[in-house]
Amino acid sequence: MRVALAFLVSMAASVGFIGAYQLDAGTQWLALSLSIALGSLGAGLAWWSRRLMPQESSEEARPTLAPPPEEERETAETFEAGRRGIRRRGLLGGLLAAAVGALGLGTVWPARSLGPPPSSGFRQTGWREGVHLIDETGRRIGIDTLDFGGVVTVFPEGRDPAADDQVVLMRIPLEDLDLPEGRANWTPDGYVAFSKVCTHAGCPVGLYQDVGYLLLCPCHQATFDVVQGAVPVFGPAPRELPQLPLRADRDGLLLAAGDFSGPVGPDRWRLGEVKDGDA
Ligand code: FES
Repeated sequence: MRVALAFLVSMAASVGFIGAYQLDAGTQWLALSLSIALGSLGAGLAWWSRRLMPQESSEEARPTLAPPPEEERETAETFEAGRRGIRRRGLLGGLLAAAVGALGLGTVWPARSLGPPPSSGFRQTGWREGVHLIDETGRRIGIDTLDFGGVVTVFPEGRDPAADDQVVLMRIPLEDLDLPEGRANWTPDGYVAFSKVCTHAGCPVGLYQDVGYLLLCPCHQATFDVVQGAVPVFGPAPRELPQLPLRADRDGLLLAAGDFSGPVGPDRWRLGEVKDGDA
């Protein structure tokens, strides 16, 4: 009974883990439910091993060939009790398989956090020459929108927001910028723009540290040096964030001067698309 209860608790905790993940309940609930699932499973296995599957061996003096009727009756009762135990083992084995299955499902479920899937044409995003930059309210961005040190997420005007269109726009004194060759005229009045999609696993690179001009990805702590062209300086990101060239029109509004300097997002997206295209 105690073993079955432990397996049932483990299953319930695994389901709770999935629920906590879906509801974004926080890491405490994820940790608590996963701990209960693992702990209950372990306790159930330990109890089962100790109480229902005795390991000790015992010896008995050779009985007389014709045991007394009393002994025969005891032997029959013991045999019958063993058969009941075997039936319980079948039930507990089923519960164990269900608990392990629920735990396995719970542990692979967060793989959905690996980031949004790529759009079919991610090599070409919504950014084109002449497309205005807008913020999340739809307001156009002008050269007076940000102070130096400021940051805002922007999108291409006239297009439904797509994950690979997100751009993080910062304003940095021109004399602090040390961008790769050929990008000197991509930064009107110190505005510099990079894809917000991390090149490691696709999380949004949402944290900006204006002291040192660093962009940080919260998923696995990749850190990008903005003034050097958003090259990775720490963490698992394999390459820089692609830069969006900018220019300002006569009214002082910011526009894209073309598409990104490179492919958006993790390399595995690109590899996947190449395979699809080759097929
Ligand atoms: S997604 Fe892993 S560091 Fe950004």
